[in-house]
Amino acid sequence: MTDVSALFQPFSIKSLSLKNRIVMAPMTRSSAPGGVPGEANAVYYRRRAENHVGLILSEGTVVDRPAARNEGGIPFFHGEMALAGWRRVIEEVHVAGGKMGPQIWHVGSVPGLGGWEPDVPVESPSGLVGPGQPRGTVMSEEAIADTVAAFGRAAADARSVGFDTLELHGAHGYLIDQFFWDGTNTREDRYGGAGVKERARFAAEVVAAASNLPSFPLEPVAP
Ligand SMILES: Cc1cc2nc3c(=O)[nH]c(=O)nc-3n(C[C@H](O)[C@H](O)[C@H](O)COP(=O)(O)O)c2cc1C
Repeated sequence: MTDVSALFQPFSIKSLSLKNRIVMAPMTRSSAPGGVPGEANAVYYRRRAENHVGLILSEGTVVDRPAARNEGGIPFFHGEMALAGWRRVIEEVHVAGGKMGPQIWHVGSVPGLGGWEPDVPVESPSGLVGPGQPRGTVMSEEAIADTVAAFGRAAADARSVGFDTLELHGAHGYLIDQFFWDGTNTREDRYGGAGVKERARFAAEVVAAASNLPSFPLEPVAP
């Protein structure tokens, strides 16, 4: 039989100490009316902490950009009301002895299930959702800078409302991922390029902004 005892050992990295190695994957629920997590959301996450999940990652929750989400009920991670809702969530999780981070998200040009917010201009690195598939406006350098700053603000807000960590969503074909791939990033400026190294600039800037690091390119950080 497979030995799973390691799962039940504590784990620590930097300031994060977990009682076990069980991590709840981020799962979109579309259950935050008006983008604001309410009492039901706090109870939902608290239940996971009560049942000994070592680290809870929230459903994807979006940065402060007009088309960052693609479905109603996806929670915002900006604005006084949504942040107050998230504060309640983390307070409840902490009362139950849990640890949690929000998953910070921008969906890029990926369509949602409900054709959400059709009047809001969708944005993507090159106005594509797949190779040769137009969708969304091409992000200007100004839009990119504003988006990077929005990720930075979300990370600062995660700290200030009391979360233990955060996850940046860089997969699944959403915005950060759209920058990585040559099929969705055909830009000829410094955010595009022949290799993934060049196309990773946007992600690196987001990481720097979220980590409160001074600038890009990233300088090695002293241990
Ligand atoms: C209902 C549902 C919603 C999901 N929403 C998200 C999400 O918001 N963010 C994310 O990164 N992954 C999301 N996922 C993917 C899961 O986090 C997880 O990566 C996926 O289920 C694969 O996990 P597994 O390999 O353990 O089965 C979702 C999955 C499900 C089933």
